[in-house]
Order: sequence, then C-alpha cells, then structure tokens
Amino acid sequence: MPLRDIDDVDRLKKINAALVSRVERSMDQQGNAFSLFQTAISLENRVRNRTEELHATLRRLEQSNIELSAAKENAELANLSKTRFLAAASHDVLQPLNAAHLSVSALAEVQTSEEGRKLVRQVERSLETMEDLLRTLLDISKLDAGVVQPEIGDVSLETLFSSLRSDFHPEAEKKGLSLKFRPVNLVVRSDRTLLRRILQNILSNALRYTRSGGVLVGTRHRGDTIRIDVADTGCGIAEDQREAVFEEFHRGTSTLADGGLAGGLGLGLAIVRRMAAALGHPVTFSSRVGRGTIFHIDVPIGMA
Ligand SMILES: Nc1ncnc2c1ncn2[C@@H]1O[C@H](COP(=O)(O)OP(=O)(O)O)[C@@H](O)[C@H]1O
Ligand SMILES: [Mg+2]
Repeated sequence: MPLRDIDDVDRLKKINAALVSRVERSMDQQGNAFSLFQTAISLENRVRNRTEELHATLRRLEQSNIELSAAKENAELANLSKTRFLAAASHDVLQPLNAAHLSVSALAEVQTSEEGRKLVRQVERSLETMEDLLRTLLDISKLDAGVVQPEIGDVSLETLFSSLRSDFHPEAEKKGLSLKFRPVNLVVRSDRTLLRRILQNILSNALRYTRSGGVLVGTRHRGDTIRIDVADTGCGIAEDQREAVFEEFHRGTSTLADGGLAGGLGLGLAIVRRMAAALGHPVTFSSRVGRGTIFHIDVPIGMA
C-alpha cells in the first residue's frame, strides 16, 4: 500500500470520528431539546390540572357561601320566631301561673282542717318553684336571643327594696332566717326590671345557702356610685370557685353535697353576670367559707 493511501485512511478515520461525534452531539442536543419539550408539556399539564382544581375549589366555595347565607337567613328567621315565642311565653305562660297563685291563696283561706292547709301550702310551694324555674329559663333565653335591651332611668331603691322584702320575707321566715333591708332614700340610674332580677337572684342565693343567721341588704356611697351590699351568714364560696360560680349550670360542690341546700339550675349568677354586663354595673363578692358572703353591685347614682 502506498504511503499516501495510509495517510488518506487516517485522515478519513479522523473525519469519520469527528462526524460521528458531531452526530452524537447533535443527537444529544436533540434529546435535550426533546426532554425540555417534554418537561414543558408536563409542566403545562400540571398548571392546567392545578387551575382546574382551583376552579373546582372556587366553585365549591361559592356553593358553600350560598349555603351559608341561606343557613344564616334560616338562623335569623329561627331567632325571630324564638323572640316572638319568648315574648308570648313570658306573658301567656306566666299569666295562668299567677291566676293559679291567686286561686290557691283563696283556697288557703277556706281550709278548715290542718290537713287541708298543709296540702294547700305544698301546692303553693310547688307553684313558686315552677315560677322561679320558668323565670330563670325565660331570662336566659331572652339573653341568648339578644332581646334584652336595658331601659335606663331613675330607680328608687326604697321602692325596689320594699318589693324585694315582700318577695323574700316568707321564704326567710320559713327557714327561720332574719332578712333586713337598711333604710334607704336613694335613687340610682338603672333598668328597674333588670336590677330587680339581679337582686332577686343574689337574694335567693343568700337565703338558699344560709342555714342560720340571716341576710342584710345595705348601701354605701362611693363617689358617683352607690354600692348595694347583700351580706349573708351562709356557707361561703371557696376561693377556687370564685370564677366558676358565674358560669352557666355551675353548681357549687359543697352546696351539692349538702342535700338541704340543693335545688337550683346553676343559672342564677350567670344571669346576674350577663344582666349586670348589659347594664354596666360591676358585680363582685367577698366570701369566707363557713362564715358568709357579701355580694356587691355598683350602680351609678341618680337624681335624688
Ligand atoms: N350566697 C352564696 N353563698 C354560698 N354559695 C353561693 C352563694 N351564691 C352562690 N353560691 C354558689 O354558687 C353556685 C352558683 O349559683 P347560681 O348560679 O345561683 O346557681 P344555683 O343557685 O342554681 O346553684 C351555687 O351552686 C353555690 O354553690
Ligand atoms: Mg341561684
């Protein structure tokens, strides 16, 4: 083989190798391009899927918004009928109960036997308990329905105390407890009915949780406010119950253990707290277990 041919073959081999590597490179590049293309397509698919998912979520949100506003409308309607029911119940349910009170009082007067009088007293007590429970339930439902709107005006404490005295005197007498109201000649700024309900709840507790001694209601001037104190010589409230006693359905363990003191729904002080908040009258108490409790209600002073 002539020398030139060998050179030629070498050159051809080199050229060939260069071509092959070029072809390979170009195939690689094409592959890269292809995989980029594939990535782009899969990205696009993912974006499309995500967008569809987001649209679906949006549609679900819109749907649940529609359902929520329908539910809200229903709740408002239900609340309105609850309010109407409460207004009717307060009047229509308590009225026959009052009529029953009157009939039973009349019945008491015509009893000639001790047995008859005893039975009539029992009916009276049951009616009182029923009225008390009913008023409590009506109060809490009215507070829940948001229909309690305080009407602030001048309230004579003398008049208020004297009506509370007639409310609670029979109960105190039955338990052999003293019930005293310090004489007052004061006028406060409050809602007559709500302030009365607050004091009724506090007084009924004071009498319920006291076995001996009694209850004293008094007032003190503190700047522009009058502090009404309801002091009892009862079982007291333990320090760790300080907050809990104001919670709904909370009943003190000591009072529960003592069967003689049981009987409430555990709503009295919850009602006191909510009514006092509506009026802006702070309610606090100080107490010593086994010695007694004093509840304080701070009420703005009115025109004397
Ligand atoms: N004057 C008081 N003396 C002692 N304990 C009281 C007094 N007032 C309230 N309590 C305690 O607070 C709890 C909650 O009172 P309340 O909300 O009126 O419910 P109820 O009287 O129906 O149990 C009572 O169960 C009782 O343990
Ligand atoms: Mg009570």
